[in-house]
Amino acid sequence: MNERTISIDVNGEQRRVTVEPRTLLVHLLREQLGLTGTHIGCDTSQCGACTVELDGSAVKSCTVLAVQCEGARVRTVESLAKDGALSALQQAFMDNHALQCGFCTPGMLMSSQEILRRHPEPTEAQVRELLDGNICRCTGYQNIVKAVQDAASRIAGAPRTVE
Ligand code: FES
Ligand code: FES
Repeated sequence: MNERTISIDVNGEQRRVTVEPRTLLVHLLREQLGLTGTHIGCDTSQCGACTVELDGSAVKSCTVLAVQCEGARVRTVESLAKDGALSALQQAFMDNHALQCGFCTPGMLMSSQEILRRHPEPTEAQVRELLDGNICRCTGYQNIVKAVQDAASRIAGAPRTVE
């Protein structure tokens, strides 16, 4: 099956893992590394539930082969809370009721992280446009957008927690 062993930094921990050439990053994270916070909603790059940060950019991990991640830096939703404390973004999601069933939330958070990295004061239009690739089946978009803008304000008024 031509398995390959790759080195990958996942949430700050250097891991060596053996994968098949066809293994997707999302399957590596969930099934081999036990990081089940990254969800699979479609497997066809439509929903964004599988979004993670790969070398500083948000990507849909169902569209990336694990072998492409040799030497890469991956951050999943599990990396957001520090020492049991929610990040400003997570807290803003909670306070603004930005989740209902929560299935889309890990992907929303990881995409929102990228929005805040690139636009420290995003407009409502920017948030809506940049979350275009993330689908919420509960359709709670209004509060999600509010939460991202609220997180931006919180971060601006406090030490930045978004890397
Ligand atoms: S599972 Fe990756 S986009 Fe839906
Ligand atoms: S909160 Fe249910 S899918 Fe978004």
